[in-house]
Amino acid sequence: MDLEKICKKVVEIAVETGRFVKETREQGGLSVEVKGKNDFVTKVDKMSQDRIVKGLEGLVPGAGFILEEEDALHERKKEFNWIVDPIDGTTNFIHGVAPHAVSIALAQNGEPVLGVVYEIAMDEVFYAWKGGGTRLNGKRVYVSETPKVADSLVATGFPYNDFSYLDPFMKSMDYFMKNSHGIRRLGSAATDLAYVSCGRYDSFYEYGLHAWDVAAGVVLIREAGGKVSDFNGENDFLFGGNIVAANGKLFDEMFDIINRIMVKKEF
Ligand code: IPD
Ligand code: CA
Ligand code: CA
Repeated sequence: MDLEKICKKVVEIAVETGRFVKETREQGGLSVEVKGKNDFVTKVDKMSQDRIVKGLEGLVPGAGFILEEEDALHERKKEFNWIVDPIDGTTNFIHGVAPHAVSIALAQNGEPVLGVVYEIAMDEVFYAWKGGGTRLNGKRVYVSETPKVADSLVATGFPYNDFSYLDPFMKSMDYFMKNSHGIRRLGSAATDLAYVSCGRYDSFYEYGLHAWDVAAGVVLIREAGGKVSDFNGENDFLFGGNIVAANGKLFDEMFDIINRIMVKKEF
């Protein structure tokens, strides 16, 4: 399979859809619905997802779909699946703040092998396919080289409806406030991961996530020289709900801190 060719097509779909999202917002009338506590969807999320699915259909024959917004027509398949978040950062989108992004990944037997994140507000498209490196608007990018957490900028997402790990999470914030260059929380996990892949951030961690939040970003980071795992050091970051990612030099120290605080509750 020619992943490079498919990736370029997916870039077109992501950028075209992202521009549509922007124009539709400018026309107003978002029709915000509440899916759960602090969990929103707009009619633009649904329109964006429909456009993406139409574009992807047939690109990889037999591929299934794992979609954020409910869709009875498309199901998950065994070998290949498209994993789509039509707008990652919907709360930002509703409030008219950056970042918010289209995130599309292709997974083969559960391993993300192609990822595209188009951040709409800055008009930046990040993309990578397995073995091909990571690009930002067509230029190769790499993770940072910062070797120590003490000298790093850490990104995360704040809990907003799953408070089951709030105590250890607050301890992790306490730790990074005192022992790093600082913490950032932009509100789009796909963009956070993309920013790690091009070296803007040194690391990212969050719990309470879904496959569509992280699948594309994982490919971007791995192909740019970084590492990812779940909080246990395993590879269950797509469906396990948590992820830690960092540049290759920083990863072991970062993982150890997250694992001690978030899993072993040593604080
Ligand atoms: C959310 C964003 C946010 C993260 C949440 C996600 P959505 O996705 O990625 O940064 O903190 O956990 O659910 O709902 O805007 O697609
Ligand atoms: Ca999301
Ligand atoms: Ca979303």
